Amino acid sequence: MIPEESILKIIRYAAKAPSGHNTQPWRFKTGSDSISVLPDFTRALPVVDPDNHALYISLGCALENLIIAANEFNYETKIEFTGDESKPQIIVRLHVAPETEKSGLFDYIVRRQVTRNKFSNDKIPNNLLRGLFNDTQDEGVQTRLFLSETEIESLNHYIIEGTTRQFSNKAFVDELVSWVRFSEKEVMLKGDGIWTASMGLPNTGRFVGNIVMKNFITAGSEARRMEKLVTASAGLALFMVNKNDPHHWIKLGQSFQRFALKATKYQVSHSHLNMPCEEPEVREKLIFDLQLKELTPLLLIRFGFSGPMPYSFRRKINDLVDL
Ligand SMILES: Cc1cc2nc3c(=O)[nH]c(=O)nc-3n(C[C@H](O)[C@H](O)[C@H](O)COP(=O)(O)O)c2cc1C
Repeated sequence: MIPEESILKIIRYAAKAPSGHNTQPWRFKTGSDSISVLPDFTRALPVVDPDNHALYISLGCALENLIIAANEFNYETKIEFTGDESKPQIIVRLHVAPETEKSGLFDYIVRRQVTRNKFSNDKIPNNLLRGLFNDTQDEGVQTRLFLSETEIESLNHYIIEGTTRQFSNKAFVDELVSWVRFSEKEVMLKGDGIWTASMGLPNTGRFVGNIVMKNFITAGSEARRMEKLVTASAGLALFMVNKNDPHHWIKLGQSFQRFALKATKYQVSHSHLNMPCEEPEVREKLIFDLQLKELTPLLLIRFGFSGPMPYSFRRKINDLVDL
């Protein structure tokens, strides 16, 4: 029997994970010696993520945090999957093991953030790159790096096309705006969503924010903004799965989260440019042009050096846990 306070402590770290639009699409169910990580489909994103791949990637990120935190507090973990294969649930069994190997990444769980500012253009030294990407792979997950200026710019038109398609789609903008939190008061109340400050935007309140996002941020202005961010990156990383199913989406989330924590350790910033992976026709072009064959690209990440941004918020633990 594991003390409830230890279980809750571990869940707190799991819930620090990143998630699409900061929906935090998870619930945690505690057992006497286990924590189940369950998808919360009431927090799905039907427009940008109709097959729920981003939802399951987010669950994978939370699972990786959970394992790292459990190990840190001297619990060994064993992972089991239950439920329908198309909607799996994760059970993490814990048992006390003081000699459990530690990842060295625990301290970075609370410091990690998705940093949406412009990076500095400085390149990342090779030894650091090796450290970042040498062991991020889970079975069935592959990462492709784009490091030279030519390689980075070769992805620009996919990013622009993805952004243009998304911001020309009213349903996409409406869904995004419903998850933007336009003031500190709103974000503190809800504990979720993307706070404007974390995007480098002013706190306008919802009324003005709604008008600005729906009328002044256009497909063209957003595409131009993205192009500048891409060009200033030290590199891009494309995270892919060799089978496009929830099990592999979870694995990809685990790999990505380890990358994000290591990047935090090395003071390397990272942020998402997933649009080409989210728009089906652009994704097909990417697969064909890059000869990815059986691989499905799911996350496109820019990385480089920059200062921090304000941190995003999380919901209260009582709202996430079924004891
Ligand atoms: C699967 C997944 C998809 C995401 N997609 C995007 C994206 O397209 N654009 C973006 O700016 N951030 C994206 N994010 C980052 C989230 O918005 C971010 O994790 C969330 O707002 C919480 O902030 P934090 O990671 O700094 O704690 C994504 C994160 C995950 C896990």
